[in-house]
Amino acid sequence: MSLLEVEDLTVAYGPIAAVRGVGLSVAAGEIVAVLGANGAGKSTTLQAITGLLPARRGRVAFDGQPVSGRPAEQIVRLGMTLVPEGRRVFAAMTVEENLRIGGAIRRGRADAARTRDEMLALFPILAARRHQAAGTLSGGEQQMLAIARALMSQPKLLLLDEPSLGLAPQVVEAIFDLLVELRRRGLTLLVVEQNVHMALEIADRAYVIAHGEVAMSGTARDLLASDEIERAYLGHA
Ligand SMILES: Nc1ncnc2c1ncn2[C@@H]1O[C@H](COP(=O)(O)OP(=O)(O)O)[C@@H](O)[C@H]1O
Ligand SMILES: [Mg+2]
Repeated sequence: MSLLEVEDLTVAYGPIAAVRGVGLSVAAGEIVAVLGANGAGKSTTLQAITGLLPARRGRVAFDGQPVSGRPAEQIVRLGMTLVPEGRRVFAAMTVEENLRIGGAIRRGRADAARTRDEMLALFPILAARRHQAAGTLSGGEQQMLAIARALMSQPKLLLLDEPSLGLAPQVVEAIFDLLVELRRRGLTLLVVEQNVHMALEIADRAYVIAHGEVAMSGTARDLLASDEIERAYLGHA
């Protein structure tokens, strides 16, 4: 059974439907990539799945329960947490305060301080900077913090919106290694990426979104082998 099942999802900004009839599923333990050019509707899709935007039509089920129309906070408690595009850490707050905020909405009853210590162990760079304002961190460190903050809610499914955007190649590599490590630890991942090749290297399956619709989907291996994908859908030369 799928951990996440999305059917016929339609999301509009005023009269304009940015996402039209999108269907996708994620099985427990998978890494699924969502690819597509700028403006294709990827962020809108993730925000509607996590209850941050209302859907005009469609169904979202998580862990066997319908979650369409539920408030975002409840969806986090059920075990689905989004790392938003652009990281959005609280710049004036310390690393530790950012983590505390991430732990404020929790699924499990486990002690927040223990999860924080797990995060500081997983991200030594954050441990070293725990009393520093988040705004003083590098872009890569802020992305690590955004991921750690999301993990504080103890999700089963982590959704990431362009985690590698704007980061240096070496840092991108570290972020992708981290995603693989998180999956190894049992997390399920739905990742929006413009870094197509790297995403397909770590993903099991992928969906390509074009103009608000699923234009292509398949195993990462098949999509990697297809030369049509970049030319047709991703807006690259
Ligand atoms: N807040 C908004 N108001 C109106 N239109 C929006 C808004 N956010 C995004 N859009 C439009 O919806 C479409 C999909 O955007 P988005 O989901 O952000 O794409 P992606 O994440 O794939 O780059 C784009 O045409 C974009 O201009
Ligand atoms: Mg986006």
